[in-house]
Amino acid sequence: MILKIVKYPEPVLQQPGEPVTEFNDELRQFVADLFETMYASKGIGLAAQQVGVAKRVTVVDLSLGQDPAQKIALINPEVIHREGKQYEEEGCLSFPEIRERISRAAKVRVRAQDQDGKWFEMDGEELLSRAFQHEIDHLDGILFIFRMSALKRNLNLRKIRKLQSEGKW
Ligand code: NI
Repeated sequence: MILKIVKYPEPVLQQPGEPVTEFNDELRQFVADLFETMYASKGIGLAAQQVGVAKRVTVVDLSLGQDPAQKIALINPEVIHREGKQYEEEGCLSFPEIRERISRAAKVRVRAQDQDGKWFEMDGEELLSRAFQHEIDHLDGILFIFRMSALKRNLNLRKIRKLQSEGKW
């Protein structure tokens, strides 16, 4: 089922997610819905908060649904190692039309549970590393505008207010 993606400044986007404790059919359906919603919007990552649910669940797929091997569901994820720096353009489905370069670690190692509750670790570089960091930020209630310089953030907030006033946000 395709869920509704909420946009900034919906308060749930800044709410830290509750850890998942039950690994049941309801969770698996929610993960399937997150993938379906993300593909429908041509995103490479989507966090639970973006569909109005403050839980530590996120999905990533750099292949936009073209390669099943690249489907990654992260439950209760944490970044356990960061290395290097990258500074590349980033977008977010909760901020349509906003793109900005954000400083991130070049490589990360993530520890998470799968849909059955089994713990695993996974390394990400470049775009995958950035997607992991962006999505795990969402689970902590941290939005990418708060990773921008104050100047860039204010410019983008002004752009959002303008779009809102034109009924385009
Ligand atoms: Ni996002």
